[in-house]
Amino acid sequence: MNLLCWPVRMHIASVGVSKICFLFSLLFCGLLLFFIPSFQPSARHVNLPQPRRRIRPTQVGSLSHPRDLAVHVDGAEKDSATGLNWSLLDQGGTREAEDGEEDTVDDQRSQDRWPFSRRKGSGLSLSHDPLVLKDIFIAVKTTRKYHKSRLELLIQTWVSQAKEQTFMFTDGEDNELRLRTGANIINTNCSAAHTRQALCCKMSVEYDKFIESQKKWFCHVDDDNYVILPSLLQLLSSYHHSQDVYLGRPSLDHPIEAAERVKSDGSVSVKFWFATGGAGFCISRGLALKMSPWASLGNFISTAEKIRLPDDCTVGYIIEALLEVSLTHTHLFHSHLENLQKLPTDAVLQQVTLSYGGFENRRNIVSIVGGFSLVEDPTRFKTVHCLLYPDTDWCPEVKPHHRLYH
Ligand SMILES: *[C@@H]1O[C@H](CO)[C@@H](O)[C@H](O)[C@H]1NC(C)=O
Ligand SMILES: *[C@@H]1O[C@H](CO)[C@@H](O)[C@H](O)[C@H]1NC(C)=O
Repeated sequence: MNLLCWPVRMHIASVGVSKICFLFSLLFCGLLLFFIPSFQPSARHVNLPQPRRRIRPTQVGSLSHPRDLAVHVDGAEKDSATGLNWSLLDQGGTREAEDGEEDTVDDQRSQDRWPFSRRKGSGLSLSHDPLVLKDIFIAVKTTRKYHKSRLELLIQTWVSQAKEQTFMFTDGEDNELRLRTGANIINTNCSAAHTRQALCCKMSVEYDKFIESQKKWFCHVDDDNYVILPSLLQLLSSYHHSQDVYLGRPSLDHPIEAAERVKSDGSVSVKFWFATGGAGFCISRGLALKMSPWASLGNFISTAEKIRLPDDCTVGYIIEALLEVSLTHTHLFHSHLENLQKLPTDAVLQQVTLSYGGFENRRNIVSIVGGFSLVEDPTRFKTVHCLLYPDTDWCPEVKPHHRLYH
C-alpha cells in the first residue's frame, strides 16, 4: 500500500510524514474497496463502442477493387467529393465517432496493413476534411535527357489524370513538349549533372513551389514512377494535412547515421530514417511549413551541404533529426531498386507508386497482364493505366470479362 505514497514521499520525505502517509493509504484502500462494485458497470459502458470500429471484410473487398477505385477518382474530380462511396462502410461507426483523437492512433497502427484495416479511419478523417486529387501537389523530378524516353510516358499515362497539380522539375527548356502536352514543366535552372548539389537544387525548387501552391500535400516522385492516383488519394485521406505526416518507403532496414552539423559542430552523430526518393514520398503541409527554416528559399541546399547527404536523406534529416517527427513507413511505394516482379499481381493496382528497371535491368517490371505485350509496353505502365482507366482512347478494347484482373 505504501506504493500509493511514493510520489508524496518524493517531495516531503525529509519532513517525516510516513505515518500520515500510512494512515492515508489505509483510508484510501478502504474507500476503494467500498466503491469498486459501483465502478464496474460504468467501465463496461465506456468500452462498448470499441468493437464497432472494425470493418466487415465484404466492404473492404468491394472497395479495394481497382475498377471501383478508378470510378471513384473520376467522381472525385468532378463533384469535389471524396470519391469514395461511404454507404459501403459501416455507417453506424462512421457517424458515431466524433472523437477525432483516437482515429489518428488507429491509422498509425494499421499503416502496414492498408488498405484492409484503415478503411474506418479514412472514413472518419474524410467526413471532417474531404481530400480531393487537386489538394495534392505532385512533383516529378526529371532531367532534360529523359524528357522523351521517360516523361512522355508519364504525361501519356497517370499525369493525364492529374494534369493541373503535377509539376515536372527539370533542368532544361522544352517548349515543344510543354506546348504539345500542356504539361506543367518547370525549368529549375539547376545543373543537369546527377550530383548531390544538382539534385538538392531541384528539391529546393520543388519545396518552394509547393509552399507557393497552397496545396495540402506535397508528394515527390521520380520520372520512372507510375503514381496510382486512387491509391494515393486513399492513403492521404487517412491523415490530416495539418498533422505532421512524412510517408514513404525506407530505403534501408535500419536508420542512417550522420554527423550532426546543423544543431552542433559535427562531433556528435544522429540516427534517422528517410524515405527513398526513387519510390516517392509525401509530406503534409503542416509538416512542410515547419521545415521552412532548413528548406525554403535555398536553405535546403545549404542544409544538404552541411550534412553532405543526397536530397532524400536531407529531407529525412530535417524531419526526423531536426523536427523529431517520425517517418511513417509504408511499403506501398516502390522504386526500381526493388525486385518489382515480387509484387503479387493482384496487389499491383493497390500500390501507391510503381517503377521499372530501365536500361540496366529491363526485366525488373511489375507482373501484370493486360492489353499490351512486353514489346509494346516494356515498363508495364500502359498496361497498368488501361486497367485503371479502360476508357482512355488509346487503350485496347477489352472484352468485359477480361477487365477483371486476376
Ligand atoms: C453507393 O453504394 C451503394 C451500395 O452499393 C449504391 O446503392 C449507391 O448507389 C452508391 N452510391 C453512389 C453515389 O455511387
Ligand atoms: C530559370 O531562369 C529563367 C530565366 O532566367 C527564369 O525565368 C525562371 O524563373 C528560372 N526558374 C526558376 C525556377 O527559378
